[in-house]
Amino acid sequence: MSRKILVTSALPYANGDLHIGHLLEYIQTDIWVRYQRLMGNQCQWVWADDAHGTPIMLKAQQEGITPEELIKRVKASHEKDIAGFLLSPDNFHTTHSEENREMSELVYKKLDSAGLIVRKTIKQLYDAKENMFLPDRYVKGVCPNCGTADQYGDNCESCSATYDATELKDPISQISGTAPELRDSEQHFFALSEFSDMLKQWTAGPAVQDEVGNKLREWLDSGLQNWDISRNAPYFGFEIPNAPGKYFYVWLDAPIGYIGSHKHLAKRTGEDYEDTWKSDSDVELYHFIGKDIINFHCLFWPAMLQGAGYRKPTGVFCHGFLMLDDAKMSKSRGTFVSAATWLEHLEPEYLRYYFACKLNSSVTDLNLNLDDFVTRVNADLVGKVVNIASRCAGFITKQFDGMLSTEYPAALIDDYDNLVSAKSIICEHYEQREFGKAMREIMLLAEHANTYINDAEPWVKIKEEANRDEVQAICTVGLNYFRIIMTYLSPVVPQLAQKTEQFLNTELTMAALESPLVNHKIEKFKPLMTRIETSQVEKLMAATEKQNASIANKAVPANAASFDAIKPEIDISDFEKIDLRVAIIVNAQPVEGADKLIELTLDIGLETRTVFAGIKAAYEPADLVGRQTIMVANLKPRKMRFGLSSGMVLAAGPGGKDLFILSPDDGAYAGMRAK
Ligand code: MSP
Ligand code: ZN
Repeated sequence: MSRKILVTSALPYANGDLHIGHLLEYIQTDIWVRYQRLMGNQCQWVWADDAHGTPIMLKAQQEGITPEELIKRVKASHEKDIAGFLLSPDNFHTTHSEENREMSELVYKKLDSAGLIVRKTIKQLYDAKENMFLPDRYVKGVCPNCGTADQYGDNCESCSATYDATELKDPISQISGTAPELRDSEQHFFALSEFSDMLKQWTAGPAVQDEVGNKLREWLDSGLQNWDISRNAPYFGFEIPNAPGKYFYVWLDAPIGYIGSHKHLAKRTGEDYEDTWKSDSDVELYHFIGKDIINFHCLFWPAMLQGAGYRKPTGVFCHGFLMLDDAKMSKSRGTFVSAATWLEHLEPEYLRYYFACKLNSSVTDLNLNLDDFVTRVNADLVGKVVNIASRCAGFITKQFDGMLSTEYPAALIDDYDNLVSAKSIICEHYEQREFGKAMREIMLLAEHANTYINDAEPWVKIKEEANRDEVQAICTVGLNYFRIIMTYLSPVVPQLAQKTEQFLNTELTMAALESPLVNHKIEKFKPLMTRIETSQVEKLMAATEKQNASIANKAVPANAASFDAIKPEIDISDFEKIDLRVAIIVNAQPVEGADKLIELTLDIGLETRTVFAGIKAAYEPADLVGRQTIMVANLKPRKMRFGLSSGMVLAAGPGGKDLFILSPDDGAYAGMRAK
């Protein structure tokens, strides 16, 4: 009987392009889903973009567009990559949809009426100048764990500690630049702690991998806190019913987005999507995720589902992270390969096959070694698999008018049956997500086929007219091997499988393998796949480096400035009052007792000025000497704690470390610095 299965992949954030790390997960999902469909199971894959939250709101603001415009553009780009990599979701939706709004409100209301939403007033950081509560990403300060300065309000980039924004030391609002104060704010909490026993049981069961279960046990044993599912405006998301100015935290509506996408799909197919989510559903539900989002899928999500009266996942399939040549992919090192850049240089199936070889059911990280990649794909797909067809096809087409033998050689029927029964072990590996093991089994069959053809030497035998039937039989056997192998490989290389179907003039299905293909006309052979040239990989990496560098250098408007309201209009005569001058920095030194200031001595030709500038995070004082900058020369001198500041220098950049004064350090004034 065929199984009913619903599969999801984690929803990519709608603020950036897909990269090959994402693709590890999405290709893993696609292979599993295609395998299930090949087995005749009813397997649906629902998926979406994760469109809400502060980073998306910020990114839109930086680009000067609305979040709606941003997520629309990104969704189109994701869809292009999805098609390019031959991924076969039944639906790719967005969490910013009516379906998801309805589902999120419904789940929230069900939780609320079950007494599982707790309203509690807590202290939050408030920007009194801008009159707003500050989202975590709008505050920076000193990490409470390791003391690193300039860290966001949710986690530390230096020690990766996570904490509450109120724990930051010396917090500064990124909007107004002022120190925020603590104010009372009513938040909505999901009563996660009530699910402790259920979760202890569920995470010890078959739904999670052992290694994941162990990790979860650590969290469960240290006690579950109730979970804040609300955020104050401004926030890009769904407003909470009957709570004006409060929004669902993105991680509440993101997993509900799985149901939202399913609901959206059901509008098209007319199916009863609710049936899948009922507590007694007979549909299997699996989530593919990366190891960084385990807590959301194995604690919060099952608790939410159960609390709202729905079923829990049958399994959460967690994978490790992708490394490139043994290192974390990084934009600054130019190794962050986007899906689109890959497709400009290499076939999607090369990556699909290589990932299949590397994938297994564990949570350990996987490595894409570029040399190994080229060798493996060329040796296996081109050298072993496609080679079988190219060695047999020509004879059948030219000598036998495309016809395979009328019967399969009797002596080789047992061998044929052996290949067909290899199916059970290969399927078991696919089912268990041991794709690497499945690929090894399949390649053994390909080696067997190549050995047979080598030994049979049809190219020698064809020279004798008397051997014609035998040559036809050898090639018939060879092409039957090819058909079996390509059927097994079809979840991994769907395009190659499709070309094979055209060439063999038959559909590749498990059931069809029961009898060999004989007395059958095939089409003329066209090259099915070409070898990877090392130069293609070199070009991919060169393009990636260039692209990463351009992203890194792209001018990002200063976060802080972009939120300030524009001041009242001035006319040109107002502007002319400002005396801007190019100045040479003739001396620069730190200011005792001031962390952020540098004391600059500026030569503007007529005179020299002393100016205190808040650029210490961006520059070593010594590096500034000799460079040019622009200053406001007629600003009223201001008496500071450290002395008189006579003017102001201009700089560009988002702030902090990334602040730039005018001219490059060209060494022209090196002599001056040496003094
Ligand atoms: N939006 C959330 C998921 C919400 S699901 C309800 C998210 N998005 S993400 O874009 O950061 O990541 C999407 C998926 O890609 C996650 O499962 C994540 O683990 C995976 N990967 C992101 N980078 C990866 C690698 N470098 N390697 C392997 N998987 C990676 O998290
Ligand atoms: Zn830290």
